[in-house]
Amino acid sequence: ICTPAHKQVLAGKTVTITAGPTREALDPVRYITNHSSGKMGYALAEAALALGAKVNLISGPVSLTPPTQCQVYGVQSALDMHQQALALAPQSDIFIGCAAVADYRAADIAEQKMKKQGDELTLTLVKNPDIIADVAALTKQRPFTVGFAAETQDVATYAKGKLRNKNLDMICANDVAKQGQGFNSDNNALTLFSAEGELSLPLTCKHKLALTVMENIAAKLI
Ligand code: CTP
Ligand code: CA
Repeated sequence: ICTPAHKQVLAGKTVTITAGPTREALDPVRYITNHSSGKMGYALAEAALALGAKVNLISGPVSLTPPTQCQVYGVQSALDMHQQALALAPQSDIFIGCAAVADYRAADIAEQKMKKQGDELTLTLVKNPDIIADVAALTKQRPFTVGFAAETQDVATYAKGKLRNKNLDMICANDVAKQGQGFNSDNNALTLFSAEGELSLPLTCKHKLALTVMENIAAKLI
């Protein structure tokens, strides 16, 4: 899709991107997950490559074909993704957390398939580590750290709160309540928030949007 030759503004830079959902096992045959398709994260990987970067793509389970030139690290759970992200972040100039990480996982994963019992089932879940906050908290070799925020209400307020609380350099906010954008869609609209202010990127295909996001990030590194 990226037919025109793009200015290689990310030449010599390493970009690490998390994409897709995570999958939190309950037992050997069941899991908890969410509707993330991975399309935005994969589009960001493609855009970073088009701008000349070396790209690491840490991907949860999705049904997409990754761009051939990127290094793909397939993961399942948030704990797997956390470990891979913290291993790659210190060697990265830019880290983008586009994955829809499950906030909680089962306190215990049953070793055998759980059998149906009473009329109700209570699951005990425990909080997963915050991957992007841990990357942004690195004291040595901290990459330029970009998060995403999928919100259904008060988008700007929540996004700015996450920018501050997670100590991010930029956050890309996504109104998932709007039809035809966000989860599983080919199109999206984003508002980028950083210390310098905000920038609205109107609804367009995720490929074009990803290129604009990457160009904005590149401009901040110069
Ligand atoms: N994120 C992460 N690790 C988690 C949860 C979220 O790295 N355990 C990252 C996402 O990849 C995204 C950003 O944090 O870049 C915001 O994710 P979001 O789900 O919108 O925010 P949360 O902090 O989880 O808050 P909430 O779901 O309550 O809105
Ligand atoms: Ca969350």
